[in-house]
Amino acid sequence: MYSIIRQLDEKRAAARMGGGQKRIEAQHAKGKLSARERIELLLDPDSFEEWDMFKGHRCYDFGMANQSVPGDGVVTGYGTINGRMVFVFSQDFTVFGGSLSEAHAEKIGKIMDHALKVGAPVIGLNDSGGARIQEGVASLAGYADVFERNVLASGVIPQISLIMGPCAGGAVYSPAMTDFIFMVKDSSYMFVTGPEVVKTVTHEEVTAEELGGAITHTTRSGVADLAFENDVEALMMTRRLFSFIPSSNKEKPPIVPTDDTVERMEMSLDTLVPVSPNKPYDIKELIVKVVDESDFFELMPDHAKNIVIGFGRMNGQTVGLVANQPLVLAGCLDIRSAIKAARFVRFCDAFNIPIVTFVDVPGFMPGTAQEYGGIIKHGAKLLYAYAECTVPKVTLITRKAYGGAYDVMSSKHLRGDVNFAWPSAEIAVMGPKGAVEIIFREEKSDPAKITAREKEYKEKFANPFIAGHRGFIDDVIMPHETRKRICRSLAMLREKKLENPWRKHGNIPL
Ligand code: HXC
Repeated sequence: MYSIIRQLDEKRAAARMGGGQKRIEAQHAKGKLSARERIELLLDPDSFEEWDMFKGHRCYDFGMANQSVPGDGVVTGYGTINGRMVFVFSQDFTVFGGSLSEAHAEKIGKIMDHALKVGAPVIGLNDSGGARIQEGVASLAGYADVFERNVLASGVIPQISLIMGPCAGGAVYSPAMTDFIFMVKDSSYMFVTGPEVVKTVTHEEVTAEELGGAITHTTRSGVADLAFENDVEALMMTRRLFSFIPSSNKEKPPIVPTDDTVERMEMSLDTLVPVSPNKPYDIKELIVKVVDESDFFELMPDHAKNIVIGFGRMNGQTVGLVANQPLVLAGCLDIRSAIKAARFVRFCDAFNIPIVTFVDVPGFMPGTAQEYGGIIKHGAKLLYAYAECTVPKVTLITRKAYGGAYDVMSSKHLRGDVNFAWPSAEIAVMGPKGAVEIIFREEKSDPAKITAREKEYKEKFANPFIAGHRGFIDDVIMPHETRKRICRSLAMLREKKLENPWRKHGNIPL
């Protein structure tokens, strides 16, 4: 009996070595952790239950019959993060470059199926050379099996992808369908076709890092949410993200008790909005001053900076924050910011996370680049997302809310539950200057008259009281009591019930 037990130990030890000591060292030399080291850091100590440690590939071509490594290049199982259940797969680059075989895909599929059954998130640690070349179409089939599961799980359980090495070709589409993508700087990349193919087809010379590195995807493309210095930071921040989100669409996010009182006044907010309407200010200052303990987990901070998105807590309850950023493009909505915010709003709606929106928006970005790029369709994404969303929605207009952008930004008309404005709010079809130049065109040549008209327009329309008069604004509030008013609104909305009419699915303008 002892010898059988010893054999098990030996088999486990062999599986744990993956592709062998030399390849593990090569992985470390690249500044990367091994698949198992990553899982250890991600999960609570001693919580990992591994499955399919002994699973092997079934490929006999190209000399593969005698090259089988137990586990077949991916470590899978479940464990906990701060005591909460999570399913994990971690691709092992030391085994056939972490490439995806039929068996490797089956292992991933198995944990995804269980995650769906029990209602727990899936975190994928990606580090792979793509389809296992020796397996051909069996490997492609494996990818498609994972894709299908990604789609079926979307909106049911949160899915998080960490890109910690290569992720190329069709392989990019599994992470692309998950809710969040984190990348590691200098050691990870994602692209559909690599630099060599790009050179052949378009004659562009570009490095892998420039084409699909962490900086590229968190600034230019917006494919990834956050870029981290190394594996350890990426894993720690994943644990932090996890603390804000629920385990499934049937649950609410965990409550994190706080000593930060609901009544906390923030007098400095009374002077946040500058006197001059054209002077910018940092909307993040408002966010960090109202959320619990100034703890704001920003997503996509370097892409479409004219809108800010991320998670915070108000009286212990997770909220999704969406805010126009006057510091960038005066806070205008454009294609990229609309897409960025729309996807975030939909995540919050799918996972029972109330949305707090801070509005200072002079309108949609004008120009041929925007119109030719399809701002009509892309801007509609944000409108659609806010309009279909049924979670509690609390909105505060700090300054400008002009034109269509007023409607879009979680207005009362899109079923905003509680809509506040600061006294500095200007809710109008457009800014005073533009408005006067149109309705008093004949007086344009007389600057004194125009200035007087502008003043008149501003006094009449550029304030929150007309909207208040109609009930489109529930109250005009003192900036210093913003936290208290939002927390109370969220408490009132905690058991909100609202359902959309039955349908197979809507047709969001994609
Ligand atoms: C089988 C692979 C492999 C793969 C790497 N290896 N990729 N084995 N299938 N796709 C093996 C290598 O043979 C090598 O084995 C080990 O993994 C490490 O690879 P290296 O090349 O030594 O590592 P490195 O220099 O870091 O380069 C990494 C790499 C490169 C850039 C990923 O390996 C590479 O270009 N691989 C091929 C990528 C590719 O074309 N994949 C298919 C893409 S198409 P030894 O034994 O020497 O350690 C695709 C379609 C998906 O993925 C479709 C989904 C619908």
